[in-house]
Amino acid sequence: MKRLAGKTALITGAARGIGLEFARTFAAEGARVAIADIDIERAGDAAAELDAAIAVQMDVSKQDSIDSAVAETVRQLGGIDILVNNAALFTAAPIAEIERRDFDRVFSVNVAGVLFTMQAAARHMVERGKGGKIINLASQAGRRGEPLVAVYCASKAAVISLTQSAGLNLISDGINVNAIAPGVVDGEHWDGVDALFARYEGKPPGQKKQEVGGAVPFGRMGLASDLTGMAVFLASNESDYIVGQTFGVDGGNWLA
Ligand SMILES: NC(=O)c1ccc[n+]([C@@H]2O[C@H](COP(=O)([O-])OP(=O)(O)OC[C@H]3O[C@@H](n4cnc5c(N)ncnc54)[C@H](O)[C@@H]3O)[C@@H](O)[C@H]2O)c1
Repeated sequence: MKRLAGKTALITGAARGIGLEFARTFAAEGARVAIADIDIERAGDAAAELDAAIAVQMDVSKQDSIDSAVAETVRQLGGIDILVNNAALFTAAPIAEIERRDFDRVFSVNVAGVLFTMQAAARHMVERGKGGKIINLASQAGRRGEPLVAVYCASKAAVISLTQSAGLNLISDGINVNAIAPGVVDGEHWDGVDALFARYEGKPPGQKKQEVGGAVPFGRMGLASDLTGMAVFLASNESDYIVGQTFGVDGGNWLA
């Protein structure tokens, strides 16, 4: 029996990376999936790869785009059982060089995007009366600050907090809100992270990535596929009694 048979899922930022891997796995587990992304061309390519997927244009930093993406998903898939708030931006700079517009840009996607996409999906789920599952992508970065990563770390700490509040508020409607905190996951995202550290720490390209991978107790960087077990678990009925939690899936990285 497929674990998400008959379910529908909206995954933000699913045109590549972790979100795309979640879309593939959810589809393999029997769900129909909306691949929602600001990059609609790439979302379209990703959806074409999967039988049970549609591509949806969505900018999580814009309220009208959140509303239209949720409405479009409901129209095409018949409802939303599972929301994965995965879209996010990374940024790095020493405190003295942080620019307000960069803070605003990152918080509008990583924090306001998560809150108001949860709100839109939860309104739909409550009205529909069938409960639901909301999974937010936090990070080990949300559990402690880092010298060059103040804005991103703070945004992910906010995701952990929003997950707790929304979890407590929405469980009475049968909606479970929980989060996953990855450690360091290889992919295009980390190529951007590596380039920023190269600039601020004066490292040759690729070195930071090698260093962080080598420091993970498991022995390597994570892969998007390392996170799918937790995502399917949280999306399935097996997680019905779990409320407002953030689960580290990081090869032991944060603990170390
Ligand atoms: N890769 C890691 O090491 C790592 C570690 C911890 C947490 N995370 C978190 O996991 C999630 C996925 O990470 P990833 O590595 O796959 O990232 P990624 O950068 O590869 O993918 C992010 C996706 O989000 C989309 N996106 C960006 N802005 C958007 C917006 N305004 N509206 C809609 N879509 C938008 C991008 O187009 C892209 O497809 C993020 O929340 C990230 O913070 C990643």
